[in-house]
Amino acid sequence: MPDPSVSDSPAERVRGRLSEVLDPEIRLPITELGMVSDVDVDDAGIARIGIKLTIEGCPMRSRIVADVTAAAVRAEGVATAEVDLGVMTPEERAELKERLRGGAGAKTNPFAQPDSLTRVYAVASGKGGVGKSSVTVNLACAMAEQGLKVGIVDADVHGFSVPSLMGITESPTRLDEMILPPVAHRVKTISIGMFVQDNRPVAWRGPMLHRAVEQFLTDVHFGDLDVLLLDLPPGTGDIAISTAQLLPGSELLVVTTPQAAASSIAERAGALSTQTEQNVAGVIENMGPMTMPDGSTFELFGAGGGRTVAERLSDTLGGHIPLLGSVPLDLGLREAGDAGDPVALSAPDSPAGSALRSIAAKLSSRPRGIAERRLPVTPA
Ligand SMILES: Nc1ncnc2c1ncn2[C@@H]1O[C@H](COP(=O)(O)OP(=O)(O)OP(=O)(O)O)[C@@H](O)[C@H]1O
Ligand SMILES: [Mg+2]
Repeated sequence: MPDPSVSDSPAERVRGRLSEVLDPEIRLPITELGMVSDVDVDDAGIARIGIKLTIEGCPMRSRIVADVTAAAVRAEGVATAEVDLGVMTPEERAELKERLRGGAGAKTNPFAQPDSLTRVYAVASGKGGVGKSSVTVNLACAMAEQGLKVGIVDADVHGFSVPSLMGITESPTRLDEMILPPVAHRVKTISIGMFVQDNRPVAWRGPMLHRAVEQFLTDVHFGDLDVLLLDLPPGTGDIAISTAQLLPGSELLVVTTPQAAASSIAERAGALSTQTEQNVAGVIENMGPMTMPDGSTFELFGAGGGRTVAERLSDTLGGHIPLLGSVPLDLGLREAGDAGDPVALSAPDSPAGSALRSIAAKLSSRPRGIAERRLPVTPA
């Protein structure tokens, strides 16, 4: 790549620098998105840069101005930069949407296309409160930190909790009918919680729930992702089935506590995969044995549930379903979740943080793509 600092005209040098500025939501260079309208540098080294925001009142405007200014003054011969903000015309916005869709046309679910390279994991459990949401956000953040492009769909429409676990308070930006998901900890995230006012409950039944998840997959622009994680509501209800239908290539991650009762219910959630024709990528034990300061082990929920579920599912479904890891009970995990700063990032070496990171690494190293997708064929 040519070094932008040695291009000829000052304006070109500034444009070179601006190509390093990513739109905070779309995560692509602003120069590729048609957001830079004109660049002018006068003899005194003052750069005047016209920036077109995607929408009026873009919540990211101050961040964009700061990033553009910082990039422009890095160009040789530029002393200061002034940013003149404008807004795209409807035609320019239509062109941008078209470019983002990569010619795929409106209203497609990119993750259901046969050539999609995104690995989709639906995080499921039989029982509520076993830590699905905590596991989802931590795996997502850890995988993003490991260099993957990651998205989360909070598919728990009634019991959404992902925004607060990720520390997201802002609303998604809308490009007409296209929704740009907020990005936190490098993860693009969408949740019904970003659309309801004042924490009001979502009182929807089956078809509406299906529509909500479908809309997240078609109207939200995630761009090219390596991994999409879905945080499912507990049990084997409507949404779990909808998700399987909307994402035929998705795989389940079954979360259980070590407790025998919980593990037999978790097994049921995993066994649903035979009906939905999903693969089970593995079992994650959460709230597992924790090591006390004196070296002894404290087993609030017993031990061994994760292994039991993995073994039983291997028997029921045929093939090897791995236990991906056991995440110990850890006060730090709960506190980090409450603070919106997942433990896998805020305390990577803590017992829960390191267990979650090692599970993320196992999932990251599985090959991306369609090669080992199970064909929807049911044996006679
Ligand atoms: N390993 C752990 N150690 C300590 N606390 C944990 C652990 N895992 C989860 N928690 C806490 O347990 C509670 C339930 O976790 P979480 O919300 O992730 O579960 P869930 O399965 O998504 O629940 P729901 O079924 O309601 O969606 C949270 O307060 C969370 O902070
Ligand atoms: Mg949850």
